[in-house]
Amino acid sequence: MYSRITGTGSYLPEKILTNKDLEAIVDTSDEWIRERTGIRERHVAAPTETTCDLAEQAARCALDAAGKHPDDVDLIIIATTTPDKVFPSTACLLQARLGIRGCTAFDLQAVCTGFVYAVGVADKFIKSGTHKCALVIGAETISRLLDWTDRTTCVLFGDGAGAVVLEAGDEPGILSTHLHADGQYEKLLHVPAGISTGFAEIQAESAFIQMKGNEVFRVAVNTLGRIVDETLAANDMQKEDIDWLVPHQANVRIIQATAKKLKMDMDHVVVTVAEHGNTSAASVPLALDTAVRRGDIKPGETVMMEAFGGGFTWGSVLAVM
Ligand code: UT7
Repeated sequence: MYSRITGTGSYLPEKILTNKDLEAIVDTSDEWIRERTGIRERHVAAPTETTCDLAEQAARCALDAAGKHPDDVDLIIIATTTPDKVFPSTACLLQARLGIRGCTAFDLQAVCTGFVYAVGVADKFIKSGTHKCALVIGAETISRLLDWTDRTTCVLFGDGAGAVVLEAGDEPGILSTHLHADGQYEKLLHVPAGISTGFAEIQAESAFIQMKGNEVFRVAVNTLGRIVDETLAANDMQKEDIDWLVPHQANVRIIQATAKKLKMDMDHVVVTVAEHGNTSAASVPLALDTAVRRGDIKPGETVMMEAFGGGFTWGSVLAVM
């Protein structure tokens, strides 16, 4: 029994914030942002638009692509760091909007690695035989976690959602998933505020993303190099067996380093960071859907998805499309 991606979808909020727009908000420049990150612009959700709104659009788009009706879905997982409410989960809110009742639905929190984790979890549900059709979504309104006076973080992120439909089948499909975490790195990339630490004590600045960017960069490059090796070895594959790399879109320099490790031409690396920025859990499925809809990634091709994020968390999905 395998799980297979049978449809992809995505959604980006209408409002685009360019690097030039950011020059009017913080002490930065289009040149600095492009040179250091590869980002040109990012989408930002409207004040009334929530993570569930973005997730719904992406989910409906993926269901259409798979030729599925919401009633066919028996598992919903939303990877998000920015849920609409403390509870119910955004997956439950989405389930109600799609008019589905009774199926398994929950959120998963692994920050930028969230979608890769969610595919890993859904794959295991399907392989165990308990579920047949999963809606797996990465959706974020990460702009709500940004301090718009902090140039070291506010220029990096964007909002969006991406989704896949995973169905049970006899043919692969998902070949392997590899999921890791190391909580010792908590302070390098985090939002200090939380529910259990007490809303009353939350200082304004602790409710936003804080990151030691260059330290995160170093660990990300090394760790993603290792996950590539681990994924190839687990599948007894060579670098040449991978048709496409769909990396987490945090920084084009990190993406180039992983491509180099795979000896992969950048023509076969999906890069959307220029237009999307870092959309956290939405970044990999947004990039995947972009490449599928462009006609770049074709049925039967082998795709390696990888991500790295807060925690630290990191992981990969190897899939035949
Ligand atoms: O998705 C989760 C994982 N996250 C990541 O993977 C992010 C990893 N980190 C990065 O992508 C990069 O480290 C950044 C893009 C965040 C920063 O690039 P960097 O080349 O590591 O720059 P830096 O942090 O070492 O800063 C270099 C300089 C500093 O000035 P001084 O101290 O050299 O005078 C910063 O203050 O650039 C300055 N700087 C800025 N200048 C203009 C920092 N942010 C900005 C800015 N505009 N927005």
